[in-house]
Amino acid sequence: MSRLQIKTASPFETEALGAGIGSLLTPGSFLALRGDLGGGKTCLVRGIVSSVAPQSSHLVASPTYAIMNCYPGDVPVYHFDFYRLTGDDDIRELGFEEFFYGDGVCVVEWSERLTELMPDDTLILLFEYAGDDHRLITITGTGKKSDTLLEQLAERLRQQKIL
Ligand SMILES: Nc1ncnc2c1ncn2[C@@H]1O[C@H](COP(=O)(O)OP(=O)(O)O)[C@@H](O)[C@H]1O
Ligand SMILES: [Mg+2]
Repeated sequence: MSRLQIKTASPFETEALGAGIGSLLTPGSFLALRGDLGGGKTCLVRGIVSSVAPQSSHLVASPTYAIMNCYPGDVPVYHFDFYRLTGDDDIRELGFEEFFYGDGVCVVEWSERLTELMPDDTLILLFEYAGDDHRLITITGTGKKSDTLLEQLAERLRQQKIL
C-alpha cells in the first residue's frame, strides 16, 4: 500500500492534479473520493475528465441529484455521487456494480457509502481543508495497479517540482 500527499493552493491546482491523474488512468481504474463537502472532489473530477474524455469535460457538474453522470469519450468516465445513498444495498439495487468492473474509468464521490462493493484495487483520495484555498489531498493505493499508478504520479510530480 503506497501513499502520496499533495497540498493544492487553488481550484486550478486541484483540477491540474486531476488532469495529471487522469492521464495515467486505464479502462477499469476505480477512484474512491472522500472527505468534506467543498473539499474539491468535483473539481478534481473535472480535471480527470479533461484528460480521459476531453470532449465531455464541459459537462462535469456535481452529480448529487443525478447519482451518476456518464462522460463519453474513447474511455468513458462514470462519475458517481453516493451522498444520498445509504450503502451497498442501494448501490446494488440501482445496478451500478456492473460499471465498477467495466471498460470505463469510475470516479466515486462519497465512496464512504461503499463497503463490500468497493473493488480491491482502488485509489482512495481523501480531501481535507488546509486553510483558505488550500486543500490537503491524500492518495492511497490498495492494490498493485493503483500502487503502480501512484509511483508514476509521484515521479511526474517530482519532475514538475510539485513534490
Ligand atoms: N485548493 C482548492 N481545490 C479545490 N477547490 C477549492 C480549492 N480552494 C477553494 N476551492 C473551492 O472549494 C469548492 C470545492 O467544490 P467541489 O469541488 O464541488 O467540492 P466537493 O465536490 O468536494 O463537495 C469550490 O467552490 C472551489 O472553488
Ligand atoms: Mg462534489
